[in-house]
Amino acid sequence: MSAKNTYILGIESSCDDTSAAVICDGKVLSNIVANQEVHAKYGGVVPELASRAHQQNIVPVVQQAIEQAGIKNEDLSAIAFTRGPGLMGSLLVGTSFAKSLALGLDIPLIDVNHMQAHILAHFIKEEGSKIPEFPFICLTISGGHTQIVKIDHHFQMEVLGETIDDAVGEAFDKSAKILGLPYPGGPLIDKYAQLGNPKAFQFTQPKVGDLEFSFSGLKTQILYFIQKNVKENANFIEENLYDICASIQYTIIEILIKKLKNAVKQTGIKHIAIAGGVSANSEIRKRLITAEKHWGWTTYVPKFEYTTDNAAMIAITGYLKFLDNYKADMSVSAKARLKVTE
Ligand code: KG4
Ligand code: ZN
Repeated sequence: MSAKNTYILGIESSCDDTSAAVICDGKVLSNIVANQEVHAKYGGVVPELASRAHQQNIVPVVQQAIEQAGIKNEDLSAIAFTRGPGLMGSLLVGTSFAKSLALGLDIPLIDVNHMQAHILAHFIKEEGSKIPEFPFICLTISGGHTQIVKIDHHFQMEVLGETIDDAVGEAFDKSAKILGLPYPGGPLIDKYAQLGNPKAFQFTQPKVGDLEFSFSGLKTQILYFIQKNVKENANFIEENLYDICASIQYTIIEILIKKLKNAVKQTGIKHIAIAGGVSANSEIRKRLITAEKHWGWTTYVPKFEYTTDNAAMIAITGYLKFLDNYKADMSVSAKARLKVTE
């Protein structure tokens, strides 16, 4: 191996996906994700089960990532891991594994903020990918977060607005649960929405600040709407599933786009990125692409595999920190709550 190459192993274990990735000088060589099916029947992530599954998955997942990258442990330049935010029991598995491997190989350990990593996934070097220009605005939409962030430089970020209650991923997942769909329901709503009429049913949008979000009212609205209609027709959901999904998705995406427009108006910044699990949604991706034509924005839509939780985003963030000569202390600990700016 050339001494000039920088190989970073990234480890992600903040929620219910165990993932490991190897990147070389910013390019992804491997990105293995082991999803935990065990939560589907409980309608949400069960922290204890997640932690146990991470313990079972972490060794084979890391091994596979290294093998697929075609390197040996000794070639690694540093190990990056998710410090937080996330479920404590899950984070501890990745943190302790990363620490012991870095110690054993005597290479730097780099802690990564999961929310920064979702955004910095845009800096993965890939053929045909656009690297964002500073400053840019990122709409981070995941199962735990909904934020509009201004990024002046890789690690200089400012939250311009966020949700005052539920995250947008929760809005998707909780709506899906009301419809009797399994967890996580976001991808299913997306799939069924493509077959339905988005204007079939109307839901009202929340009244909050220009850059704030609120989704708990929408969830209640959907619950009452379904209860009322099922009372009148027991087969209401089955008969209208596609239209219901399309209408829910339309309302949510309209809210997101409206907030992005407000952010552009307030900041004058027209470089717009999306990140996080919900950025896998086909409708938001389409809307961002058309925004280039219609509103003169330059938009950055992540490659599908870098939207939901993955270790490539942890590895690229670790790489950017490595270039800054950053190195964590071995006493670094997992942190369940961590702001994107920390
Ligand atoms: O970023 P992520 O994998 O985990 C967190 O850090 O939260 O995001 C997971 C969220 C879930 O709520 C899931 O339903 C949602 O992303 N999601 C989607 C889609 N794919 C994943 N929501 C809507 N449409 C999708 N295609
Ligand atoms: Zn995430």
